[in-house]
Amino acid sequence: MARDRAQARAVRPRKEAPHGLAFYPLHFLHMRRSPLSELLPPWSSRIRPYPPGKPIEEVERELGHPAIKLASNENPLGPSPRALEAIRNYLDRVHLYPDGNGYYLRKALSEYHELEMNQVILGAGSTDLIELVAKTFLTAGDEGITSQSSFYIYRTAIEEMGAGLTATPMRDFVLVLRTFSKVHGLAGLRIGYGMGHAELIESLNRIRSPFNANSLAQAAAVAALDDREHVARSIESNLKEMKFVTEELTLLGVRYTPSVANFLLIDTGRDCQEDFVRLLHEGVIVRPMRLYSFPTSVRVTVGTHRDNEQFLEALRRVVTAPIRAARI
Ligand SMILES: Cc1ncc(COP(=O)(O)O)c(C=O)c1O
Repeated sequence: MARDRAQARAVRPRKEAPHGLAFYPLHFLHMRRSPLSELLPPWSSRIRPYPPGKPIEEVERELGHPAIKLASNENPLGPSPRALEAIRNYLDRVHLYPDGNGYYLRKALSEYHELEMNQVILGAGSTDLIELVAKTFLTAGDEGITSQSSFYIYRTAIEEMGAGLTATPMRDFVLVLRTFSKVHGLAGLRIGYGMGHAELIESLNRIRSPFNANSLAQAAAVAALDDREHVARSIESNLKEMKFVTEELTLLGVRYTPSVANFLLIDTGRDCQEDFVRLLHEGVIVRPMRLYSFPTSVRVTVGTHRDNEQFLEALRRVVTAPIRAARI
């Protein structure tokens, strides 16, 4: 009891700020507190967070050898050179808050898609917009609908709001989401956009965090949208390499689902977690697909020709190796 009182005294804020926030001494972070679970909404503990693709640096740190990442469908040719130039030109203005209305990027996008500007909304990637839709429309007790085997964030966005989840076959969506993460090669900058009826966009804007699209991302995206050459080069490389990878998979006798995107679902018929770990040890990061209910499949991004060769060589060794427990 006395200890609790002493703790209570110790965590008294040092200073009350004029805007009502308080500054706490840092040792507060190391002290025993009342269980956090009492403060959390009851559905919070049921959420299984989205596991992002393993970063290259993490694998290199853990395994001590170089790795390539074919796990998150990024553009293997890198960002648009014109986007890089736009970022460089903007760098000395990063002390300023971004344009919360994203005027120039929304203008460029509305012209590109032949829409009114009030039909376009920006997000820190499309994941931000998926969460915004859930925040705008759902509350505890509602039912959110997503399609089976769709991107996992749809699921967590619904669950975060305390809403029930229904997974159905594919449906039409009234909000179209696009991203600059893939063919434009700007995944790390986090920029995407949504297009829909002006009334829907207005409802989303009321809930949107005002600076969700940062200034470097906006500048880069305006330039990337205009860089049709980079887009064409990326698509051409993807088509050529997709053909190469699928032909090699056929020769290897490994089954895959035909794809029109920049990634392939490969069914090795073996435990996907084991294949994932074995491929990691070969320096190749892919995605195990158990989370999406494909326990014997991995998803692999179509990379550069060199990446793809490295992946195929690694896969050849993995599928011919005896099955035994592998760990990282
Ligand atoms: C279907 C789908 N939606 C959204 C995303 C996230 O993209 P962004 O980088 O725009 O958040 C991904 C990422 O791979 C995806 O596959």
